[in-house]
Amino acid sequence: MTEGVAHATSRILALCLLAMILSAADRTPVPWEKHRLLIGQALYRENCAVCHDIDRAQSKKTGPSFYQLFKRNKMPLGNLKPSREYIKVRVKFGGSLMPAFRQTLTDSEIDTLIDYIAAK
Ligand code: HEC
Repeated sequence: MTEGVAHATSRILALCLLAMILSAADRTPVPWEKHRLLIGQALYRENCAVCHDIDRAQSKKTGPSFYQLFKRNKMPLGNLKPSREYIKVRVKFGGSLMPAFRQTLTDSEIDTLIDYIAAK
């Protein structure tokens, strides 16, 4: 095989791979969403559940409950409307009593976590 043919072959292979990835992305809807929520739940249990309840409104834990957070008009502590941006900042930088997670969670993990909270 000449150099040119080898080069062309690897380009075709790369294009096939790209097409496979794109078509896989096309049929993602429900199963992947479920999978994402399960990952979010695991991240939540691992990092947040010690201090924040999410399955009931009343809570004896250190931090406020996030039960139906996105259906409320206000965050539990203060007057801000629940938003992804605010939660992301709070998770990254923590608070007076809450640890910061910017060293332990990636941006996409925090996004997955917030999807889980939003689904409760
Ligand atoms: C060690 C206990 C602890 C852990 C672990 C913890 N938090 Fe907190 N969190 C708190 C406390 C206490 C507060 C309220 C006081 C403060 O800000 O420190 C709070 C506040 C918050 C707030 C702001 C609430 C409001 O009404 O403004 C958000 C959002 C939040 N936490 C999300 C999370 C998420 C998501 C995780 C997991 C990644 C997490 N927290 C992990 C203790 C914790």
